[in-house]
Amino acid sequence: MDCIQITGGVPLDGEVWISGAKNAVLPIMVASLLCDGPSYISNVPHLQDVTTTMELLGRMGASLAMDDGMRIEIDPRGMHQFEAPYDLVKTMRASILVLGPLVARYGRAVVSLPGGCAIGSRPVDLHLRGLQALGAEVSVVNGNIEASAKQLKGANIIFDTVTVTGTENIMMAAVLAQGTSVIENAAQEPEVVDLAKFLNAMGAKISGAGSNTLTIEGVENLHGTEYSVLPDRIETGTYLVAGAITRGHVRVTRTRPRDLDSVIEKLRETGAVIEVGEDWIDLDMKGRRPLAVDITTAPYPGFATDMQAQFTALNTVAEGTAIITETVFENRFMHVQELQRLGANIRVKGNTAIIRGVDELNGAPIMATDLRASAGLVLAGLVANGTTTVDRVYHIDRGYEIIEEKLGQLGARIRRVASPRKTR
Ligand code: UD1
Repeated sequence: MDCIQITGGVPLDGEVWISGAKNAVLPIMVASLLCDGPSYISNVPHLQDVTTTMELLGRMGASLAMDDGMRIEIDPRGMHQFEAPYDLVKTMRASILVLGPLVARYGRAVVSLPGGCAIGSRPVDLHLRGLQALGAEVSVVNGNIEASAKQLKGANIIFDTVTVTGTENIMMAAVLAQGTSVIENAAQEPEVVDLAKFLNAMGAKISGAGSNTLTIEGVENLHGTEYSVLPDRIETGTYLVAGAITRGHVRVTRTRPRDLDSVIEKLRETGAVIEVGEDWIDLDMKGRRPLAVDITTAPYPGFATDMQAQFTALNTVAEGTAIITETVFENRFMHVQELQRLGANIRVKGNTAIIRGVDELNGAPIMATDLRASAGLVLAGLVANGTTTVDRVYHIDRGYEIIEEKLGQLGARIRRVASPRKTR
């Protein structure tokens, strides 16, 4: 197992390019199962979750080919197995996304029920209720979701809670349903919009993407298409925070600034000077210590829960006290105990963390617990005195492409090494 070793204290300075969005490429790859021919998806990031999705689709009989330019061809014509087994679902909860397309296109699906995970219980009841509303038979047997339908029928679905993959799953199912479906209280995340654009490019009729109401007019079949995935707004935000926490100057390129309004606003509150171009964002702290900023997470266009750990890290060394309120996932403060090992002053009460900025952090061995938490830990390591070793780096590899190379390019003293054998 690998770990990442960082010697902190260098203000980052330079330019970094942004990869395609993990949370868009996964549903888009899965959506390609809905059509009758090959699709070509470009701007695909090199991520463990992409590899897992390729394995999942490949095991079902889809043929996949990747060229050097990070373009994947997915041809579903050989599909003969309609199952997402536990060994894959447990490593990547987003495997649940195959449920809607399999039932809509192939009439059946068996998907292992994702269990709890480090950031909370994360149920999938809304996915199942949505599919049932479209006329599918759904049951849970021996830890598997079993769903079937001869022909899905359009329906009106109102989600109790905004759910990103729930919206995506039901949208993918509804595109091949007979008649019109309306999804209310739909997720408005840019990745949901990207998936809707991909589906429309395949011949689907979806309107309202990006608002809280989606209208989907069912069509009989879909054709293969070519599509380039949008840039990753969470990766973008993470490198901007890397610039801010180290009092440095970072320019992110090949990104889409309009997806980051709430993050940019918060970074400006820390004292960062930010300039924005069509596909780049430039952050300059001018050597100053960041000011503490309060954060409350919320579905898009609110402040993303996937940026919470990074701002928690930023606040540990900021001037003043910050209150972080996590409203999306109930247990998303796993990084706090690890930050405390570096000397952070954080008190957690329920879904709130109160952070008093300290003058300095000190390096220590720490452990990644989930994807975004681990990004927060790496950011803290960039400012901690001495050496910080972040173990269980596989969490980071699920969602950040070559993070040590990209941070290294900005001047960070960072390297990937084999984990020491003993556990702490
Ligand atoms: C997606 C993202 C993840 C991000 C999250 C919130 C992907 C692959 N992952 O996860 O990075 O952190 O959105 O922005 O896109 N809920 C239910 N019942 C359900 C479904 C969800 O109660 O059936 C609840 C969840 O427990 C959570 C809230 O709804 O409290 C939002 O979760 P959801 O948007 O579904 O998260 P994911 O789609 O799993």
